[in-house]
Amino acid sequence: MGVVALVPAAGRGERLGYGMPKALVPVGGVPLLVRAVRGLFESGRVGHVVIAAPPADVDAVHTVTAPLAPAFGAVRVLAGGAERSDSVRIALAHALREIPDTTVVLVHDAARAFTPPHVVKAVVDAVEAGHEAVVPVLPVADTVKEVDDAGVVTSTPDRARLRVVQTPQGFAAGTLRRAHESGLHATDDAGLVERLGVRVVTVPGHQDAMKITTPFDLAVAEALFVGEAR
Ligand code: C5P
Repeated sequence: MGVVALVPAAGRGERLGYGMPKALVPVGGVPLLVRAVRGLFESGRVGHVVIAAPPADVDAVHTVTAPLAPAFGAVRVLAGGAERSDSVRIALAHALREIPDTTVVLVHDAARAFTPPHVVKAVVDAVEAGHEAVVPVLPVADTVKEVDDAGVVTSTPDRARLRVVQTPQGFAAGTLRRAHESGLHATDDAGLVERLGVRVVTVPGHQDAMKITTPFDLAVAEALFVGEAR
């Protein structure tokens, strides 16, 4: 089956405060996006990667990521859109139009640069086993409260039933296309698919798949991962 990974990487990364798109911010001298794409290919299950890059950085992103493709695959770089969902939609349209036999589509944030390849493989395996939508998740360590506009607690969901959701999220290609054509809105792709009434199943995520959003996250990544052979 043809597995294509879409990597939305067109954000400006303002919360990181680095003065460059987050995808190009280096950890241990290697840009986050390069690490993310390398992890996708190292799973051995991804044939093509389609990256939505900041429009001004398409050439730079192509230069650093194209050499990562294995002999059987390729990296394509497109200009992303105004919102993350626009970037995913642009990359998905390209994959369905230009890459033959696209049956499984992953959506993976460049910011989750240290996602272990075995998590990527587990997501692909679950989609190929017949699940239309698959997300990697972790249990929640903190108790979570729901609050109203004034910040007053309105409920305490049962922590045992909560999960934090990571990427890559995996989909049957037609299911993700329907979700993005629906005009619905959600903060992640699985959320869109859920709203179509599709069953979304979970596989175990991994702490290393942390999303690098703030300077604190970047410092944690430097401390944890640099010096390791990855
Ligand atoms: O800002 P945040 O970290 O939530 O963005 C998640 C991912 O979506 C990032 O990898 C970012 O580069 C990407 N993104 C995008 N196009 C946008 C905004 C964000 O591809 N317009």
